[in-house]
Amino acid sequence: MKKPIIYLTRKIPNEILVPYQDSFDFRMWEEEETPVPRDVLLEVVKEADGVLCLLTENIDRELLENAPHLKVVANMAVGYDNIDIEAAQEKDIIVTNTPDVLTETTADLAFSLLTAAARRIVEANDYIRAGKWDHWSPYLLAGSDIHGKKVGIVGMGRIGESIARRAKGFGMPIMYHNRSRKPGAEKDLGASYMGFDELLREADFVVSVIPLTTETKKLFNKDAFQKMKTSAIFINVSRGGVVDEKALYHALNENTIHAAGLDVFEEEPIDANHPLVKLDNVVCLPHIGSASVETRTKMLKLCMDNLLAVFSGESPITPVKN
Ligand code: DGY
Repeated sequence: MKKPIIYLTRKIPNEILVPYQDSFDFRMWEEEETPVPRDVLLEVVKEADGVLCLLTENIDRELLENAPHLKVVANMAVGYDNIDIEAAQEKDIIVTNTPDVLTETTADLAFSLLTAAARRIVEANDYIRAGKWDHWSPYLLAGSDIHGKKVGIVGMGRIGESIARRAKGFGMPIMYHNRSRKPGAEKDLGASYMGFDELLREADFVVSVIPLTTETKKLFNKDAFQKMKTSAIFINVSRGGVVDEKALYHALNENTIHAAGLDVFEEEPIDANHPLVKLDNVVCLPHIGSASVETRTKMLKLCMDNLLAVFSGESPITPVKN
């Protein structure tokens, strides 16, 4: 019997593919670091029964309408703002994502970013490397405390709750804003639910873990930054699109807020000359929230298992439900 054709939009280690080789006919963009060009993708999907894609691919209506055999899109990310879910549903194309396996790893990174921004870790590292360390002095590279400070988590999903658990260990009072209340987090972590504006006013650290949707686009705008404390530190590990980056730049440059830790940007990769990247009070990372070898491997295997489930006539393990 003819095996389903699965197009992989990036070169994936062979050891991940081997266990699935009897089930699938793999076609692959043979580059590890460069995304598949749009015109190539538009061409190859014409034949594909399944696609394993990354957040670098825009799986939009045009592409889905160009893919007459496509049954499933397995996105190697928990976020799926790169996919037109409505168009996929209209065409009965299943979309899957990779929740759960990346929760703790992403929370680790979010917390690392928070500590790095608060305690000026990157600046301090650069200071030594630049040969600037001549003397110890009382306020040399003095940052902000973390313990005892209030963390405000915007988007209390799985990753938000994991960040909250870490914050509890640091002795931080936890506040959160979410579409719905989280009684478990309120009971177990002592987290207090707050309206968005109230959280912005109260929090010492505002952490964005909110998915990018039409409602959350540029949620963190000039108005939002103006509501924050001047000592506030803003952390974003969700999507760059939830932030108005011009407003963030001005807020940081004019000391409306104190600092930021950013793993995600409106446009990725962000240019090294982007004004945000040039600020001393910003720690920037290249979207590495889930980037541990263990977790990235689990994400790829989950994509494969989702594809296998669909083509075995079973329900996908982690379908995107809208
Ligand atoms: C996701 O999964 O959505 C992350 O942003 C990539 O790890």
